[in-house]
Amino acid sequence: MEKKFKRYTVTAALPYANGPVHIGHLAGCYIPADIYVRYLRARGKDVKFICGSDEHGVAITIKAQKEGVTPQEVVDKYHKMMGDAFTDFGISFDIYSRTSGKTHHETASEFFKTVYDNGQFTEEVSEQYYDEAAKQFLADRYIIGTCPKCGNENAYGDQCEKCGTSLSPTELINPRSTLSGASPVLRTTKHWFLPLDKMEPSIREYVESHKEWKTNVFGQCMSWLNQGLHPRAMTRDLDWGVKVPLPGADGKVLYVWFDAPIGYISATKELTPDWEKYWKEEDTRLIHFIGKDNIVFHCIIFPAILRAHGGYIVADNVPANEFLNLEGDKISTSRNWAVWLHEYLKDFAGKQDVLRYVLCANAPETKDNDFTWKDFQARNNNELLAVFGNFINRVMVLSHKYFERKVPAIGTLTDMDREVIAELKKYPATIAASLEQFRFREALSELMNLARLGNKYLADTEPWKVIKTDEARVKTILNIGLQIAANLAVLSEPFLPFSSGKLYKMLNMPHLNWDEAGNEHLLAVGHTITEASLLFEKIEDEAIDIQLQRLEDTKKSNQLQQAVAGPVKEAVSFDEFSKMDIRVGTILAAEKVAKTKKLLKLTIDTGIDQRTVVSGIAEYYEPEKIVGQQVSILVNLAPREIKGIMSHGMILMAENTDGTLAFVSPLSPVNNGGSVK
Ligand code: 2FM
Ligand code: ZN
Repeated sequence: MEKKFKRYTVTAALPYANGPVHIGHLAGCYIPADIYVRYLRARGKDVKFICGSDEHGVAITIKAQKEGVTPQEVVDKYHKMMGDAFTDFGISFDIYSRTSGKTHHETASEFFKTVYDNGQFTEEVSEQYYDEAAKQFLADRYIIGTCPKCGNENAYGDQCEKCGTSLSPTELINPRSTLSGASPVLRTTKHWFLPLDKMEPSIREYVESHKEWKTNVFGQCMSWLNQGLHPRAMTRDLDWGVKVPLPGADGKVLYVWFDAPIGYISATKELTPDWEKYWKEEDTRLIHFIGKDNIVFHCIIFPAILRAHGGYIVADNVPANEFLNLEGDKISTSRNWAVWLHEYLKDFAGKQDVLRYVLCANAPETKDNDFTWKDFQARNNNELLAVFGNFINRVMVLSHKYFERKVPAIGTLTDMDREVIAELKKYPATIAASLEQFRFREALSELMNLARLGNKYLADTEPWKVIKTDEARVKTILNIGLQIAANLAVLSEPFLPFSSGKLYKMLNMPHLNWDEAGNEHLLAVGHTITEASLLFEKIEDEAIDIQLQRLEDTKKSNQLQQAVAGPVKEAVSFDEFSKMDIRVGTILAAEKVAKTKKLLKLTIDTGIDQRTVVSGIAEYYEPEKIVGQQVSILVNLAPREIKGIMSHGMILMAENTDGTLAFVSPLSPVNNGGSVK
């Protein structure tokens, strides 16, 4: 495969500019893409790494509506934030562009026009919902109504999020516009469709010629093809996007999934005047890195668009990852269930490689996977620190101590030395083989095996003991140790670019290509290395507890926000209500009821008397802190014996959805005995 291609165009999905970047984005697409590109560059390949912000579509206009700002303001804010986050984490795009830019508008527009001129579109007039108050057609997500399947009153025009059914807007009962709240009306509108049904044989042939694709990708494509492709509208009635460049198409823009992938092309145009080579020549290998929700768009629709235009190459591979969950739950921007990169950097400054490492070691390559903070801590402490960091630190410190920062001379080799060198030689090819097949977890684990080899070599040869009797032997051991470290600097660069950079500095060595590694001659005898610094630090429990607590707080606040009030009970007459004698009282004394977890024995001044009430609130209030607190108490509840104590009345409590309780107390002091009505 390598021989066939002269150059590479590697794209990473253009993220919607409607929120910050989180670990799910990194794990799904940007880390594997970056590792792959860094590896290609290390092999001296001609490669362009393309990305940018996807700034059109309802994902943006809905966010703008929610924040009460213009779509342009939304994309300006998040384009900057996302670009910064990618830079901070070492995602080494050759360009990070944006689809609201001039080059993109021109490119996408001209692309559409050519497909139109080629006679590839069909025109269809259909009925769609229109909001007469807001004076616009409504995209699916702008319509909510009752789900015909489960009765959820807030189902979207394309999907009910409660029961998961996918819907079309006309299936909703009682549809409402989210823009004005009005009931939308059906109006006719014209759109341009890509006849995917007619293109199916050629797309099927394309997909079937790529049986080497990851099984999740190939499987999803075949399942779409087997269900039969349908014509798909490439235009929308919206005022945000690339205008449809045809007469009589006012108020219409290109469908975001038509324009976004063309964004890869326009970004390449901005990057280099040579852009056509990277998109039109058959000896260019085009690879799209994406998340699994983008598979159909990159494997079926975009190739169909490119072919309808003509003159372009299509992807040779689309290594899509599955999804990453967080602590057992789906990552969600709207529920704030995510680890945001800009927040991670505040809490773990300088530890970008730790996150890169964990997200690669645990990447959702073949199935959805879970990120947990405990796993993050364990991988840092037990792998990066204990294996990689420990090896580098030992070899550096010992070389400083015994040989004044000079690479010592290699002497007679033992069998063990020869075996270790033979092992070392295999690593560049082993890691490369995994990377070529997009098996990033496997590749990373091989890299760690090289660090393990170094660690074991030092543990077996014990230079710190041998130094007392045989300095020449220690010279050989540390020479080999330093050569392993130098190999690690080269081979770790795609995965851990920041640590690799530090290691290069420590070893004071020039940048080497991948193919120069895999031998024991990277550092010359007598070469001076520099000061050792720590590559990784221990992550303490406290740092992890802070993250877990933050997620716990998010969960609680989500539960409160999503709380659905229970149904109203049967009606009561005023007379019936008046039978309840509820008063304000003050807690005079409180103590735990022995051998129970939940009960407190309270002495209450009810204004009428001082009485004992047993209340199930011990989990929420400490007895000593509630003395003096005013509460509401039902004073005419028939006395009951609870755990051997007579309870005269009941304290009224308000209950949260999570079951926690809070006193119902007057906001300003009220005389004890005052009634609650
Ligand atoms: O799913 C998404 O976030 C899309 N914005 C990806 C677009 S990829 C490409 F086509 F631009
Ligand atoms: Zn439903």
